[in-house]
Amino acid sequence: MHVVVNAAMSADGKLSTREREQVAISGPDDFDRVDALRADSDAVMVGVGTVLADDPSLTVDDPDRRTEREAAGKPENPARVVADSRMRTPADARVLDEEARTYLLTTEDAPPDFVAEIEDTGTEVVVAGETRVDLGTAFAELAADGVDQLLVEGGGELIFSLFAEGLVDDFSVFVGPSVIGGRNAPTLADGDGFVDSFPELELQSVERVDDGVLLSWTVG
Ligand SMILES: NC(=O)c1ccc[n+]([C@@H]2O[C@H](COP(=O)([O-])OP(=O)(O)OC[C@H]3O[C@@H](n4cnc5c(N)ncnc54)[C@H](OP(=O)(O)O)[C@@H]3O)[C@@H](O)[C@H]2O)c1
Repeated sequence: MHVVVNAAMSADGKLSTREREQVAISGPDDFDRVDALRADSDAVMVGVGTVLADDPSLTVDDPDRRTEREAAGKPENPARVVADSRMRTPADARVLDEEARTYLLTTEDAPPDFVAEIEDTGTEVVVAGETRVDLGTAFAELAADGVDQLLVEGGGELIFSLFAEGLVDDFSVFVGPSVIGGRNAPTLADGDGFVDSFPELELQSVERVDDGVLLSWTVG
């Protein structure tokens, strides 16, 4: 499975404010670029922190792109994937609506009655790991289910784990023209941080998009 991480950060590296509220970092061209990335993916993933903060739908916005997917024999929208160890995704979250198939990656720690309730809504529950989602195991299950191209849209905790586990192939970041600040505001890769061994990136391109810069890297 090919894993692409894409996110937008402020010029000072923040994904949102210290209140963890979604802020517009990108402009229209970057939104359109991300919409095209979604349309090219089999599944789009976030962590439960992003579901709770932003309630994203993760669907393809452009009707032409949805039509093209259908013409190619694919579902209108890519599947959605949420890493959610304890099933904190609210039942009325947009990622659980009927616009697309959804995989909830969870753990043995998840309350069994919640698992049954969520499965009743048609959501695929993948149990991987004891207390925190074992991403490698869960990804193997997604791949076995036909997910070849996975787009990860954040947030910082999930992105860090993916780098820590060596699961990222391509990494693109839009750097927007604003300073958000705040030592507790989420950054692109949070988690515990690396201390003496850092994932190495190879720069593929630098492009002006809207009033910011799109940096594209491959991961060594
Ligand atoms: N600018 C952008 O492009 C962008 C994109 C997305 C999000 N955001 C912002 O980012 C913030 C949310 O980011 P976040 O870092 O708090 O949340 P996140 O990365 O979306 O989700 C993190 C949560 O996922 C769950 N998880 C399960 N297994 C995991 C694993 N193996 N590794 C890491 N996490 C795992 C954990 O909760 P459990 O332990 O309960 O499972 C963890 O707390 C919001 O403010 C949102 O607006 C910005």
